[in-house]
Amino acid sequence: MSRPLIVGLVCGLLLAAPTNADIGQAPDEPSAATLMDDLMWGRGPIGGPFALTDHTGKPRTDADFRGKYLLLYFGYSYCPDVCPTDLMAISSAIDLLGAAGDAVQPLLVTLDPERDTREHLADYVAAFHPRLIGLTGSAQQIRKVALAFKVYYAKVAAPAGEDYAIDHTGFTYLVGPDGKYLGFFPPGTSAERMVEIIRRHQLPAASE
Ligand code: NI
Repeated sequence: MSRPLIVGLVCGLLLAAPTNADIGQAPDEPSAATLMDDLMWGRGPIGGPFALTDHTGKPRTDADFRGKYLLLYFGYSYCPDVCPTDLMAISSAIDLLGAAGDAVQPLLVTLDPERDTREHLADYVAAFHPRLIGLTGSAQQIRKVALAFKVYYAKVAAPAGEDYAIDHTGFTYLVGPDGKYLGFFPPGTSAERMVEIIRRHQLPAASE
């Protein structure tokens, strides 16, 4: 990663966060710093159940993916840089795993349900990997799962006539076949590194 780490942690233009009033967020929501700290230091539970809709319109819950490792990413299709880079790494990791990749399900939860319609998500995920599933839902459903994974995101007001952006933390989460959170990869993690860690989880005896 050529950029300073702190910039890489948040995908978007601004780290000098807009005020809660600017972005219409409830004032009691945790800040980016609080969420990142909680994730880094493993404070409190991470992850949990979700109920969303996939890019084909099918309702999906976390329980549907039991038995699979999940590579879970939160982002949005209009993201100019970090999201595509990390989604490419996730997709390459699945391919590099070969047959073992069948046991890994890549998921993208959109943080921009307004623009990431089902059809739009379908086109977007197909550009990365045939097995990448895009998930969307109501703003409330997305907020719930994002906060469970300590994801910070906020709409950034754009000048008149320009598209808005969404600042968001860009971690890739690894969830086990039992639905339990195993860890996270920072933004910019290579596919090779993801493969190394996933293999270690898949073959616990071999790493002893
Ligand atoms: Ni992004």
